[in-house]
Amino acid sequence: MCGIVGGIRRHSNIVDFLTDGLKRLEYRGYDSSGIAVHTPDKIARVRRVGRVQNMQDAATAKGLTGSLGIGHTRWATHGGVTEPNAHPHISGGLIAVVHNGIIENFESEKARLQNLGYEFESQTDTEVIAHSIKHEYMNNGGDLFLAVKQAAQNFHGAYAIAVIAHDNPNEMVVARMGCPLLVAFGDDETFIASDVSAVIAFTRKISYLEDGDIALLNADGIIKMIDKTGQAVNRAVKTSSISLASLELGGYNHFMQKEIYEQPKAISDTAEVFLDGGFDAINFGENAETIFKDIDSIKILACGTSYYSALTAKYWLESIAKIRTDVEIASEYRYRDVIANPKELIITISQSGETLDTMEALKFAQNQGHKYSLSICNVMESALPRASTLVLYTRAGAEIGVASTKAFTTQLVVLFGLAVTLGKLRGFVDEAMEQDFIAQLRHLPNDVQHALNLEPQIVAWASKFAAKPSALFLGRGIHYPIALEGALKLKEITYIHAEAYPAGELKHGPLALVDDNMPVVVIAPNDALLDKVKANMQEVSARGGELFVFTDLDTEFSADDKVHLIRTPRHIGVLSPIVHTVGVQLLSYHCALAKGTDVDKPRNLAKSVTVE
Ligand code: G6P
Repeated sequence: MCGIVGGIRRHSNIVDFLTDGLKRLEYRGYDSSGIAVHTPDKIARVRRVGRVQNMQDAATAKGLTGSLGIGHTRWATHGGVTEPNAHPHISGGLIAVVHNGIIENFESEKARLQNLGYEFESQTDTEVIAHSIKHEYMNNGGDLFLAVKQAAQNFHGAYAIAVIAHDNPNEMVVARMGCPLLVAFGDDETFIASDVSAVIAFTRKISYLEDGDIALLNADGIIKMIDKTGQAVNRAVKTSSISLASLELGGYNHFMQKEIYEQPKAISDTAEVFLDGGFDAINFGENAETIFKDIDSIKILACGTSYYSALTAKYWLESIAKIRTDVEIASEYRYRDVIANPKELIITISQSGETLDTMEALKFAQNQGHKYSLSICNVMESALPRASTLVLYTRAGAEIGVASTKAFTTQLVVLFGLAVTLGKLRGFVDEAMEQDFIAQLRHLPNDVQHALNLEPQIVAWASKFAAKPSALFLGRGIHYPIALEGALKLKEITYIHAEAYPAGELKHGPLALVDDNMPVVVIAPNDALLDKVKANMQEVSARGGELFVFTDLDTEFSADDKVHLIRTPRHIGVLSPIVHTVGVQLLSYHCALAKGTDVDKPRNLAKSVTVE
């Protein structure tokens, strides 16, 4: 969703950083963008609806230059997608602000400021921040730091803000409450951003702000910073290890394609922790063993694709570790009456680590008395791992495509590792079983590579799919969540309506939809439920439905003009859901290519959902 950048250079122009940084934040999803730069005459601003490139072209045409500036990509929440609603917002020509998050009390604040004579040009909640800071700035003798500190006391909600003032050409003030914000340090230059990918081409030295922090910056770095209690504070400077290559396309056409193809490596990097360190509780944190021995059940909270990895994990956790596991959509859990159990481990799964609903669900669980939490996350230092007792990071590398791919399969690797770890601790996994699980994990990157090699057959399927208005995905047992993930991928990037059902439910409703225009994708590996799935497939065939079946060796299906088969080269076993995910990912990707949709930035969607 929204992204923030800002920077101060001692002498040179900051505009190249602002536009480059905003382009690197495009993947998060946005619908307009803008920058504001300090110039001797005024704070000069350019905003445009649509791509950052449009805005950059306009800035170049205007000849915008200056050594202090801020920029923003906006994903509309309060107010439509219009230029006046795009950030930065300026108050009285004096104060310019960019903002991520939501000011919940903006209506009452707006009324208060209107009574003070401020006029509003936009429908956004952000404009109240600009006017409020301007008001405090005037009341506090032009002290920008103090003005932000005073104004922040009026804001209820979540924010990360960056503020500049026209009569202060060398300084910027930033503040964070509930939304990520970092300061990055170069030589004679200081940057700020909501996401590390915006700054990494310029410097790797980074400090992450904590909630409640307010900092005054110049080209030398942080001049002063206070925490939420008003005390002076320093935050550690870390060196980011994210590779620049992971943020760029390389030889690929789309990030989604690149990320699908990166899965063998991402999986083997993520599995390393178990293959080198064993299925040991220590992988999840210092006191994980004590916690794992004390828990009697698990609840997993997540959204989107991460929710489907949780649904898959339930099967492993209950069959391998024999621990009762509930899975809930985070946005549902946080608003219902729950029966808290302090012996239940709360697991949150999130690629970004900043999905607001998942974060709020974790806080809600903690407030209900849940003392144990584990975060499975792909982004170091993000909000969820910071708020959790235990953490294990997926090592997928940066995921840029809005449709999650390698984050999902690496989440599954960690969740499988967790199931085996708990199974060992609880006495359900003996030495022989452990060796077998290790062997399967070692094989996994190869199996995934073999699944990728099936791409030409999937391309042929995609050409049939692309013209269809809707599709049905079926699976049973642990492959049902993979059917759900397949349907989600297809919806997200092709806009084809797709639904997933447990195959046994077909006759209770969705069978009514089946005709020769409704392709039915079935995940049908050679497992204990195969015969049941075959019977469900007969129900489709008998109604003239066309079947597209992902299966393994030795499943004794026969293909015909209404039954299409793609087989993995061997029977996979317990990690089969991970391998069969690749097929549904590639199917969506090639359907999107056939339809000509925007693969990496599907309409209306955002990568990081930091609003409710
Ligand atoms: C958005 C993304 C999805 C993602 C979901 C949860 O909807 O487009 O790809 O699965 O958020 O995100 P998280 O970062 O918490 O895994």
